[in-house]
Amino acid sequence: MATLNQATGPRFTRILGYGAARGDLAVPNDDLVGPIDSSDEWIRQRTGIVERKRASKDVGVVDLAAQAGAEAIATAGIDPSRVGAVIVSTISNEVATPSVSTLVAERIGAGIAPAYDVNAACAGYTYGIAQGDALIRAGLAEYVLVIGAEKLSPMVDPTDRSISFLLGDGAGAALLGPSDTPSISPTVWGSDGSQWGAIWMTSTYSQVRDGEAPFATMRQNGQTVFRWAVWEMAKVAKQALETAGVTVDDLAAFIPHQANMRIIDEFAKQLGLPEHVRIGRDIETTGNTSAASIPLASHRLLQEHPELSGGLALQIGFGAGLVFGAQVVVLP
Ligand SMILES: CC(C)(COP(=O)(O)OP(=O)(O)OC[C@H]1O[C@@H](n2cnc3c(N)ncnc32)[C@H](O)[C@@H]1OP(=O)(O)O)[C@@H](O)C(=O)NCCC(=O)NCCS
Repeated sequence: MATLNQATGPRFTRILGYGAARGDLAVPNDDLVGPIDSSDEWIRQRTGIVERKRASKDVGVVDLAAQAGAEAIATAGIDPSRVGAVIVSTISNEVATPSVSTLVAERIGAGIAPAYDVNAACAGYTYGIAQGDALIRAGLAEYVLVIGAEKLSPMVDPTDRSISFLLGDGAGAALLGPSDTPSISPTVWGSDGSQWGAIWMTSTYSQVRDGEAPFATMRQNGQTVFRWAVWEMAKVAKQALETAGVTVDDLAAFIPHQANMRIIDEFAKQLGLPEHVRIGRDIETTGNTSAASIPLASHRLLQEHPELSGGLALQIGFGAGLVFGAQVVVLP
């Protein structure tokens, strides 16, 4: 029998550039508190959110994704035609098919590059990084564009106290390519389907079609998710450091999913982060943008602290599924 050719790629990969797009509307807590019998003070104290960014009606998830993706490619200084795959992590495509990513590939000039969406909720970006890294090392693409993009505002029920006030709209992108040195550690990732019901949508397509339920919006069991994040995800973060072969002292930055400022603070405490480690705290003015939150926070951290470039960042995403993913990356 003939022997098949086998693709091989470079040994190492890295992030070459970030891009970001936030919703054009700043929505302060006071605009949301009425229908949920809450207050600006309660939301600030319990979540650290002061305002969230949301996109106007005419700005779609594809627009946000394409804007962030184009910036990541431009920052990396790569011709878009060399992008060998486009991965968009999202839970907010307005249709089940076709994907967000094919339209994004077309808009950013990636030609006929393979393009697909990943549904791993707030862990989606870390899943995308795991896949982009693997695709390049396997020789299936030279450069991979990974985007976390969400327009969550259409999934918000203004009367829901469980999650609606947390959510924002935005997209963050990273362009991945070959590297001479190891710059993306092996990903620690997984899922726990026994907690499928911890974060959910209120109705299915068929229920809406049959008039049995109104338009689907998102809900969560906040305390369950909070406890799981604080206890189980701190362990995953430690495991990611061990797998990378580094300690907290080696880190320049810690960039967790922007779910709740109290969760971020608890992580920092449990990990014993030294003073010098900069922490991504984009949630304060952006809100929780699910798959977009880590790349948005990374983009902002580098803009505010350019000296972090070349340093190590521990990133961890976690959310509906439940799913999680974490890795250590060298900041571009
Ligand atoms: C949602 C979340 C902010 C709620 O905060 P919490 O401290 O857990 O709040 P609790 O549910 O324990 O409720 C505490 C009190 O606040 C009240 N409360 C709940 N939601 C409220 C709201 N939106 N506004 C005002 N009061 C509220 C409750 O009724 C309760 O009152 P009581 O003490 O008089 O009984 C928090 O659980 C959270 O952030 N969870 C994880 C979120 C997350 O990351 N999800 C996204 C997927 S990754």
